[in-house]
Amino acid sequence: MQVLHWQQPWHGPVSRHNPDFSGPPPQSEGPFYPDQPPLDQDNDLVRVAGRSGQAKGKILHLTGKVLDDRGRPVSGTRVEIWQCDALGRYHHRLDSPLGADPDFQGFGQMEPAADGVFRFRTIRPVPYPGRAPHIHFKIKSRAFEDLTTQMYVAGEPANQRDYLLNRVPATARTSLIVPLKPADDMEQNTLAGHFDIILGKNTS
Ligand SMILES: [Fe+2]
Repeated sequence: MQVLHWQQPWHGPVSRHNPDFSGPPPQSEGPFYPDQPPLDQDNDLVRVAGRSGQAKGKILHLTGKVLDDRGRPVSGTRVEIWQCDALGRYHHRLDSPLGADPDFQGFGQMEPAADGVFRFRTIRPVPYPGRAPHIHFKIKSRAFEDLTTQMYVAGEPANQRDYLLNRVPATARTSLIVPLKPADDMEQNTLAGHFDIILGKNTS
């Protein structure tokens, strides 16, 4: 597997209105943004249309809100996520298809309603050589600059060694790290996590 991620300097979208209200800083897109988006691109990455199986791995109910730098929900966005499957394979021509999980969608997207809320049913991210578990995010917006970043899992020992995560100043790092909790009330034997996004630079 190729584990190189493109380098990108850190610029945190600190609010102009409230310096304490800052969101996840941009992070590298990495080399695995889908080269051929899957036919099924909905927000349930655990089920692939036309297949009867379910993705390997622990199911994660991932929610969040897209906000502006005053904490108001932002509409007119598209939230995209992508990640490797439970076997550590990205569904991308740069990664080996050997051993890839065909029941994992690899990429999903949704357009939040006016409340800015997004929901994904995916898997808890797994580590692969050189990287802590992470989920890639890209938020496309009509009114703001797009934001590309990555979400990490609280309590993961590999976070200490992840070179991309550790390039982020400690004060901003926590905004990228999400605690995951049991979510059996939603679905048996699953986890839930919440990751808010703040779009800080209005380009309109
Ligand atoms: Fe990655």
